[in-house]
Amino acid sequence: MSAPNKSFDPVEPAALAASTLEAARVDALSAIAGARDLAELKEVRLAHAGDRSPLALANREIGALPPAAKAEAGKRVGEARNAVRVALEERSVVLEAERDALMLAAETVDVTLPWDRSPIGARHPLTTIQERIQDVFVALGWEVAEGPEVEAEWFNFDALNIPPDHPAREMTDTFFVTSPDSGLVLRTHTSPVQVRTMLTRKPPIYVICPGRTFRTDELDATHSPVFGQVEGLVIDRGITMAHLKGTLDHFAASIFGEGIATRLRPSYFPFTEPSAEMDFQCFVCRGESIGNPDKACRTCGSEGWIEWGGCGLVNPRVLIACGIDPDEYSGFAFGMGLERTLMLRHGVSDMHDLVEGDIRFTLPFGTEV
Ligand code: DAH
Repeated sequence: MSAPNKSFDPVEPAALAASTLEAARVDALSAIAGARDLAELKEVRLAHAGDRSPLALANREIGALPPAAKAEAGKRVGEARNAVRVALEERSVVLEAERDALMLAAETVDVTLPWDRSPIGARHPLTTIQERIQDVFVALGWEVAEGPEVEAEWFNFDALNIPPDHPAREMTDTFFVTSPDSGLVLRTHTSPVQVRTMLTRKPPIYVICPGRTFRTDELDATHSPVFGQVEGLVIDRGITMAHLKGTLDHFAASIFGEGIATRLRPSYFPFTEPSAEMDFQCFVCRGESIGNPDKACRTCGSEGWIEWGGCGLVNPRVLIACGIDPDEYSGFAFGMGLERTLMLRHGVSDMHDLVEGDIRFTLPFGTEV
């Protein structure tokens, strides 16, 4: 019988003792189980499986053991380290899944939420009615003419036979651009476009001129210092009031409804002779409310007619000022307010609604183009 092998040092380093390894393993496993998230688990991994962890230090001791003891100690350390590695792996899978679940919850996109709630916007009804009016005349073969909003007094007044002492030239009505003697105003009507057109085009002239105009009025239910007008001008041979009347009847029918006619009442404008105020037939009662209390009409106040604008035959003095021979040509003109036309057509009772830009007012007009 050979003697017991005494060639190794029976004194095992403390780090390799079964109880020490077991304690390190239990420590590690409980720390791993206690890690609440991946960051904590990283700390635990460093402390219990890192280079300076008790088990790693124990592992290093193995090298110093005599060969016969190495296997046994190696097995113990290896098992402990392996248990820690597996536990780390498993906890990491659990914590990653938790992290992913949290992230998914936080970043969830609810695809059932409405996606079309940013409104695409709508054109302002003033713009659309202006274009509607233009279209009526373009369809008749007329052209669209424009002029500047900052206008020379001569175009705005003088050429239109509005002499310097005319009430319309008083400062109370007119915005002067710098001072009253600057000669520049914010145009008070679209009629200066008539003058510009006659000076730059040769008859026959058939133009419609929509645009912005300005007067020193306070904003109230029926007035605005900035408002729109649309001007019509025809210069040709043999033009009479009959042409004007027929054109206005067509215009009224196109905007207010089939069969709606106009009537003319004598009036005065310096730039037309004869001049008339133009009414159109009430499109709600069509005249049936006149003298008929049972059929009272709020739209026209039971008058049967609604005031729309001014018109007349172009004053020969205006033709001469614009270089057109009144013996050869005659013409008619008309002008009306865009806001008033819109308000009448759609039953809008307060000008504020047109200028305030509240989409609760504009949206019901839709995205009409
Ligand atoms: N310019 C006038 C105004 O602003 C409206 C007007 C009246 C225009 C008669 C015309 C017209 O062309 O013939 O009150």
